[in-house]
Amino acid sequence: MTLLVTWNVNEPETETFRSQEKEAIAQQLSKLGVSFDQWATKELPEDADQEAVLAAYEAEVEELKKEHNFVTVDVAKLKNTGQPNFAETAAGAREKFLDEHTHSDDEVRFFVDGRGTFYLHLEDTVHAIVCEGGDLVSVPKGATHWFDMGTENPDFTAIRFFHDGEGWVGDFTEEKLEGEPISTKFATHDALVASMS
Ligand SMILES: [Fe+2]
Repeated sequence: MTLLVTWNVNEPETETFRSQEKEAIAQQLSKLGVSFDQWATKELPEDADQEAVLAAYEAEVEELKKEHNFVTVDVAKLKNTGQPNFAETAAGAREKFLDEHTHSDDEVRFFVDGRGTFYLHLEDTVHAIVCEGGDLVSVPKGATHWFDMGTENPDFTAIRFFHDGEGWVGDFTEEKLEGEPISTKFATHDALVASMS
């Protein structure tokens, strides 16, 4: 299940909104300028590579590319298949986008499999979207956000859509709350997953 949780930025202990209902989540996110949709997921082997993932979703990907003028797509995958140093690789990948940042392009992701959480910090609110296989989410360019893929069992495969090759570099805000990075103040991906009903 997908989950959306909202807090006031100064009250990370008190949720002001929580839903696991697709319609309610899409409605709430659209008010924030964030597109949210779901596609039917396809059966794919565990070891599916980028080519196989893109082939499985070719029709949906081509339609979205045409609709939004995306130039390129690729597949980001983090899965423990027994490779050496997985924990280090996963920790490094998590660290990279855990601090609040913006991009000069939209961050558009279709979750093929697994889970990851986007946190959007918009004015005085923070919204966590725990995405799972089937979810399509678009973080608008310039929106401050961070992403947590978890530490307990990092596992996700996502198709990424780009308008150009340049836009997808993180511009870090170094936003602090009580002297700590803002992302350390809110429930983590693992905690949110554990809280789902
Ligand atoms: Fe990002």
